[in-house]
Amino acid sequence: MDAFLFYVFIFLLTLFFSHFLITKFTSNNGSKNRSSAKLPPGSMGWPYIGETLQLYSQDPNTFFASKQKRYGDIFKTHILGCPSVMLASPEAAKFVLVTEAHLFKPTYPKSKERLIGPSALFFHQGDYHVRLRKLVQSSLSLDAIKNLVADIEAAAVSASTSWVNGQVINTFHEMKKLSFDVGILSIFGHLEARVTKELKENYSIVDKGYNSFPNNIPGTSYKKALLARKKLSKILSDIIWERKEKKVVNIKNDDLVDCFLNSKDEKGEVLSNDQIADNIIGVLFAAQDTTASVMTWILKFLHDEPKLLEAVKAEQKEIRRLNEENKQRLTWTQTRNMPLTYKVVLESLRIASIISFTFREAVADVEYKGYLIPKGWKVMPLFRNIHHNPEFFDQPQKFDPSRFEVSPKPNTFMPFGTGTHACPGNELAKLEILIMLHHLVNNFRWEIVGSESGVQYGPFPVPHKGLPVRVWRESL
Ligand SMILES: *[C@@H]1O[C@H](CO)[C@@H](O)[C@H](O)[C@H]1NC(C)=O
Repeated sequence: MDAFLFYVFIFLLTLFFSHFLITKFTSNNGSKNRSSAKLPPGSMGWPYIGETLQLYSQDPNTFFASKQKRYGDIFKTHILGCPSVMLASPEAAKFVLVTEAHLFKPTYPKSKERLIGPSALFFHQGDYHVRLRKLVQSSLSLDAIKNLVADIEAAAVSASTSWVNGQVINTFHEMKKLSFDVGILSIFGHLEARVTKELKENYSIVDKGYNSFPNNIPGTSYKKALLARKKLSKILSDIIWERKEKKVVNIKNDDLVDCFLNSKDEKGEVLSNDQIADNIIGVLFAAQDTTASVMTWILKFLHDEPKLLEAVKAEQKEIRRLNEENKQRLTWTQTRNMPLTYKVVLESLRIASIISFTFREAVADVEYKGYLIPKGWKVMPLFRNIHHNPEFFDQPQKFDPSRFEVSPKPNTFMPFGTGTHACPGNELAKLEILIMLHHLVNNFRWEIVGSESGVQYGPFPVPHKGLPVRVWRESL
């Protein structure tokens, strides 16, 4: 039933997109005389629907992998109503995302832009993007996140305080709570509990609507999400107003909201409340499900590799022992010195490749390796295919953290993307994961409930049903 509804949804979505496409195609036909380069190999599938059903009737990764096998590292297809070129080599990813990034603009469905907010930085390119990115980057830099260790640890402890012995928890849901709290910390520093609660409730309605069918019919998830998004704007503008009032009193502030509030462009213009709100929601969105799904995968991988789990435990228990001896909390320096745990994180990022690919749109006809990428086509660098290519990672399906004892070749490991749109929160995400692991392996045991091993996409891959696990508190 679920799968059926999903097809119906995809079908409607496709029709919805193809409406725009027909107009686009006809207008494109006018601009002939393109370069002599030919389109990449590949098949476009049925009219309108293209190969969307093939993509979703199997594991999407099987779709990409079998295409790559058949056509090579660059091939064309037609999915979700868009003619697309997929790129599965490190050089091609670099071409699109770094060296020729100006020829490929970020592209998202309008319905998603509306929910997050059109001024969020990842929808933009050019000056505005550069300005916003600098702000976000500085508030998430190593220097800034250093100060968050104690707060993140407290958030990890608090996320698990309600777990009782023998209880089954939904790992993904629990990890989402943690990544939301850490997002709030990095954005606002400390925030009143009442305001946090309002943000959380309203944001979770937006989150639920994100993958639902966009429409304006009252009562549907999408419409509810739009309404909740409005309430979020109100809550955020109240916070912003309050901060502006207090500004003179509070001198040292380096969280994201303060970075936004203090920013002026070269003409002395400040950011509007809407621009700030859209970017706050954007950061929350980028931080929550992604980090939570990686953490969920790590719990699964460690569970499946008992020897490795023991070794990670030994590393973390030694840190805990030292800290108890010296009566101190986990420190920043310690989080930078967890060699095995860190390699487990990297290997999990590689195997899970939760951002399996990214979307760009060619802003002009572009030629790459003798192939034409026509203006208006979607371009998708396939990170997962690169991360799972035996040429770069020996026995790619094997979970083997020791492979990260040597650095991967350039552009073969891009769990956070690369280039101007690479994730600015990568260090915070890794820090959060390390701290959470420190807390979990020291204090808990977990066993996976059920034996199904499937993957769910929402849109990021997570283990079947969000990985239900039974947890026990380890006695000290
Ligand atoms: C959403 O935010 C509003 C404040 O704008 C608040 O009154 C409400 O309780 C919050 N939660 C929900 C579920 O609407």
